[in-house]
Amino acid sequence: MKLTTALLPLFISSLATSSSLSFFGSDQQVLDKTLEVPGANPLEFCEKNDDYILTINNVDLEPNPPLPGKTLTIKAKGNFTEKVEEGAYLLLVVKYSLIKLINQRADLCEQMKDAVNEECPLIGEKTITKDVDLPKEIPPGSYTVNADAYTKDGVKITCLTASIKF
Ligand SMILES: *[C@@H]1O[C@H](CO)[C@@H](O)[C@H](O)[C@H]1NC(C)=O
Repeated sequence: MKLTTALLPLFISSLATSSSLSFFGSDQQVLDKTLEVPGANPLEFCEKNDDYILTINNVDLEPNPPLPGKTLTIKAKGNFTEKVEEGAYLLLVVKYSLIKLINQRADLCEQMKDAVNEECPLIGEKTITKDVDLPKEIPPGSYTVNADAYTKDGVKITCLTASIKF
């Protein structure tokens, strides 16, 4: 589905910068300001955590929120505080309402190379910009995305979540 190709780079890009989230009951959660990812974006960290390998300085989306049929420009700045090598992976879940559209494990290094031309090992400060053409025909509704990234040894790189209404 086209939405996959639109949202994957978005989250990969944010990862140039993500754990586990209970989708059930997320509407009832009181928004915790401290979980907000800095910048103009709908992203939140999955949990309070100072141990993520990736420190995200900011993620800016233009337009924010993303609009169907428009080019989405993503600018992100972050710091990989430890080396991220081949074998790192991304767990991506996309839900449309309560239906799981995507539930997959992806190779983080491959995705970073394809999406933003950054090659592993990833280390230090990275600034990335990515344009994504969003399809016009995104079915209206609430989408929830959860992206969880780990090194090959299972150390958490980052975890991000977002709810986007189209
Ligand atoms: C990135 O993280 C490393 C390791 O913590 C730190 O030494 C470095 O100063 C950071 N770089 C920036 C630009 O914040």
